[in-house]
Amino acid sequence: MAKEGERIRVPDLLEMKGAGRKIAMLTAYDATMAGIMDAAGIDVLLVGDSLGMVVLGEDSTLGVTLDMMVHHCRAVAHGAARALIVADLPFLTYHTGVEDAIRNAGRLVQSGRAAAVKLEGGAAYCGVVRALTDAGIPVMGHLGLLPQHVHRLGGYRAVGKTRDEADRLAADAHALEQAGAFAVVLEMIPAELARRVTGELSIPTIGIGAGPHCDGQVLVSCDAFGLFQGFVPRFVKRYADLGAVIAQATRAYIDEVRGGAFPSSEHSIAAASEAAAPK
Ligand code: KIV
Repeated sequence: MAKEGERIRVPDLLEMKGAGRKIAMLTAYDATMAGIMDAAGIDVLLVGDSLGMVVLGEDSTLGVTLDMMVHHCRAVAHGAARALIVADLPFLTYHTGVEDAIRNAGRLVQSGRAAAVKLEGGAAYCGVVRALTDAGIPVMGHLGLLPQHVHRLGGYRAVGKTRDEADRLAADAHALEQAGAFAVVLEMIPAELARRVTGELSIPTIGIGAGPHCDGQVLVSCDAFGLFQGFVPRFVKRYADLGAVIAQATRAYIDEVRGGAFPSSEHSIAAASEAAAPK
């Protein structure tokens, strides 16, 4: 396992599962926030394609491009010294074949400075997972609610509630493990199904809306910290209300600018003669 101050690497997650140490993962999209979460000790920073919704104001993740992901991933990588950095492969960057997938994932590693990529889907993408892993690009899988499949699913809904869906998801999880995935995100599935998959796999599971039995948990940081003002799923726990803090600070700033209280002499640049004058 990574020692104090050392960068967390892909094999460390497997060791954490073995040692029963839960993996804490949050999303990040810029260097400043990444630096704060990294210094606080987060294990994994995911540059999620949730970027489209919580940062860029889109109504789904489908409009996120590889260029956007590279841009934000590089910023996160600049901000974080210790966390493992995983970047989402956005919609249509791995669906058209293994060569495209390798080229696109390679850009996230080479230009975005990610250590690993995440992709949505199970058995249908195992060829891609194998090829990326063989090319030296570690892959995190993603099963359950797949936001890139929002149109097929007919909305953002829980998955795996029927016996058939649950068995299919478990089979997909095994297929990803066999194809070389180093971890798998389980999104919005029943806690009992997450417990089953976590028990059956040797690679770690990271849950989001999947109950307490996974090997780790991930949340969208803008949801968890109260920054995102749109719809927030019920499974999210709000650890801070930064939206309210920022709104309050903004009102205070506006009042002081309008009232002339800011800038005071303390925040003004002194002339050379003043600065040099003896106190
Ligand atoms: O894009 C994202 O933020 C994600 C998480 C919800 C796991 O994929």
